[in-house]
Amino acid sequence: MVWGVAGVPRCGPAANNPLIEKIGVFAMKALVYEGPRMVGVEDVPDARIERATDALVRVTTTNICGSDLHMYEGRTDMETGRVLGHENLGEVVQVGAAVDHVRVGDLVCMPFNISCGFCGNCEKGLTAFCLIANPTPAMAGAAYGFADMGPYEGGQAELLRVPYADFNCLVLPPEAEERQTDYVMLSDIFPTGWHATELAGLRAGETVAIYGAGPVGLMAALSARLKSASKVFVVDRHPDRLRLAEEVGAIPVNDADASPVDQILDRTDGIGADRGCECVGFQAHDPQGHEHPNMTLNNLVRSVRFAGSIGVVGLFVPRDPRSPDPLYKEGEVAFDYGLFWFKGQSVGNGQCNVKAYNRELMRLIRTGQARPSWIVSHELPLRKAPEGYEHFDRRDRGWTKVVLHPNAMT
Ligand SMILES: NC(=O)c1ccc[n+]([C@@H]2O[C@H](COP(=O)([O-])OP(=O)(O)OC[C@H]3O[C@@H](n4cnc5c(N)ncnc54)[C@H](O)[C@@H]3O)[C@@H](O)[C@H]2O)c1
Ligand SMILES: [Zn+2]
Ligand SMILES: [Zn+2]
Repeated sequence: MVWGVAGVPRCGPAANNPLIEKIGVFAMKALVYEGPRMVGVEDVPDARIERATDALVRVTTTNICGSDLHMYEGRTDMETGRVLGHENLGEVVQVGAAVDHVRVGDLVCMPFNISCGFCGNCEKGLTAFCLIANPTPAMAGAAYGFADMGPYEGGQAELLRVPYADFNCLVLPPEAEERQTDYVMLSDIFPTGWHATELAGLRAGETVAIYGAGPVGLMAALSARLKSASKVFVVDRHPDRLRLAEEVGAIPVNDADASPVDQILDRTDGIGADRGCECVGFQAHDPQGHEHPNMTLNNLVRSVRFAGSIGVVGLFVPRDPRSPDPLYKEGEVAFDYGLFWFKGQSVGNGQCNVKAYNRELMRLIRTGQARPSWIVSHELPLRKAPEGYEHFDRRDRGWTKVVLHPNAMT
């Protein structure tokens, strides 16, 4: 890509704009999915304005997410040749003719959800289930560089096309320039961790059991602390991740030592936590590495008290032909419904409606009450992204969150 147009003027319709044609000529670098556990940095056509409501963003910071790993491992319908990356922050370099609010030069962070802002679900704040942005019939919800969530390319690239830009760009304060690793977490995992606690109905003074100390579980722990939970348990078996949970005041529960359910019951007078958060998803496994897609769900039913509630933000998919679990090949799990019913528990689940929270969470970052970058272990240029995928996918010690800088010089 040849690009250096900071301060490009606002422009008219794409068809009449010579600048857009010029952009289309050059190839940008992007991280492309090539097949199971294969990604590469390739030259692809520059992202560009396609509709008058689009903005074009020069990506300065973009993360690798646990959701990318499901795709990386070949456990989804991700097509080869597509650009990954849905946790994106950057500078607006061009806007379509119908963009009113967002301006060239703005530093913006995009929710991973692409949503129109005017459909029946968006009107209600359910932007993860937008009825317009995903063109596939009978599908709701769209995202950048994501299997089954529309045709949009991802932002692990030099440039990103942002549809419905006025709705989807969160314009950041000037100080964000220097704190991009904090603000980029507004694209997904900070709101998603918060969402887990919202779905679980967590209130001040209550106790909460969080399964998974990956980036999402750690953000759920941060959110629970911000909401003044009295005790926050975080279950995992990776000491480095559990240590990060401790750093925000959570109680680490290592399930390689003993049953996590027993450990939580022991510390809640045998009653169980008031609320539970599932932050692992369908590739949940035991400490020996054997996958059990129902494991965290059933452990949560046992870890949470009678009449408690559970929020599930870990990803589950309608079909998983590669699952070692025969039921889950068809998307089914052996869920302990009897005990769940008997305990009168409730559950909420699904993708996070990032726009429901990102503006307020931005204020918590700005005032210093939240510093979500504490989990970042590695900042890499785009050319090293394949290495980042490899380590993060193996959950190698010390690889807790990988941030990429596609336009970095080194
Ligand atoms: N709902 C949403 O909008 C949304 C948004 C972002 C991510 N996600 C999903 O959230 C999940 C977590 O994402 P992440 O980035 O933290 O991923 P991650 O893979 O880095 O973290 C998952 C963690 O769960 C742990 N784990 C595995 N099995 C476990 C078990 N049985 N008990 C306890 N812990 C266990 C792993 O050791 C790992 O540390 C993924 O499924 C991701 O796709 C959902
Ligand atoms: Zn993500
Ligand atoms: Zn919509």
